[in-house]
Amino acid sequence: MSVIEPTWITLRDGTKIHARSPSVDDIPALLRYLDRMRRETEGVLWSPQDDLPTPDDERKWVEKQAQNPGDVHVTAWVNDELASMAGIESGRRARTRHSGVLGLSVMQAWHHRGVGTAMMRLLLDWARRHPSLELVKLEVFTDNPWAIHLYERCGFTRDGVSPRHAKRGPGRYADVMHMSLWLGEKQS
Ligand SMILES: CC(C)(COP(=O)(O)OP(=O)(O)OC[C@H]1O[C@@H](n2cnc3c(N)ncnc32)[C@H](O)[C@@H]1OP(=O)(O)O)[C@@H](O)C(=O)NCCC(=O)NCCS
Repeated sequence: MSVIEPTWITLRDGTKIHARSPSVDDIPALLRYLDRMRRETEGVLWSPQDDLPTPDDERKWVEKQAQNPGDVHVTAWVNDELASMAGIESGRRARTRHSGVLGLSVMQAWHHRGVGTAMMRLLLDWARRHPSLELVKLEVFTDNPWAIHLYERCGFTRDGVSPRHAKRGPGRYADVMHMSLWLGEKQS
């Protein structure tokens, strides 16, 4: 079972956020968050045209990720408000189990206050301690300099760009950059 133990983080302005892996009790808040995030930004793949997961889909997702030793998710709360979600999901096959894909989002009201940095630190500490995870990968739209700057500050390098990865509307395409962080070979 892969969880991030509950922890308090103090942001640079003194705000305290509570970070922990999600539980099934959080499902209504997770669905509200996903719905707001996809309306707030074109920086994520979910869009308002997509169907939201049902509460039952979401419960299965929360249970599955808690059981897979190669996956971890973390949520950040300010009082009872969900401010950020992030996670790493590892490959399922023997030849891909050494690598995981990282995802991160922060609600707009909380941007540029250090929440993203704090979430990256939690996930990368977990990844470094993981017995077999050697490579963390992510995808970010090339028109998102905030995110690219944050990932480079965390040690990620630019691997290449896939053109027109997302279609945001008629004639409006977004290129995606692949980035990765090599943690080193592990013995297991
Ligand atoms: C990208 C995102 C995760 C960053 O989270 P955040 O909580 O704002 O991150 P932080 O506050 O920890 O750090 C933001 C960094 O971006 C920098 N930044 C702000 N504006 C910037 C700009 N125009 N260009 C480059 N960097 C910028 C900040 O200065 C800060 O870096 P610094 O601490 O070195 O000064 C968040 O903006 C987000 O969720 N966006 C919408 C969804 C998304 O794009 N997700 C990423 C998908 S890969």
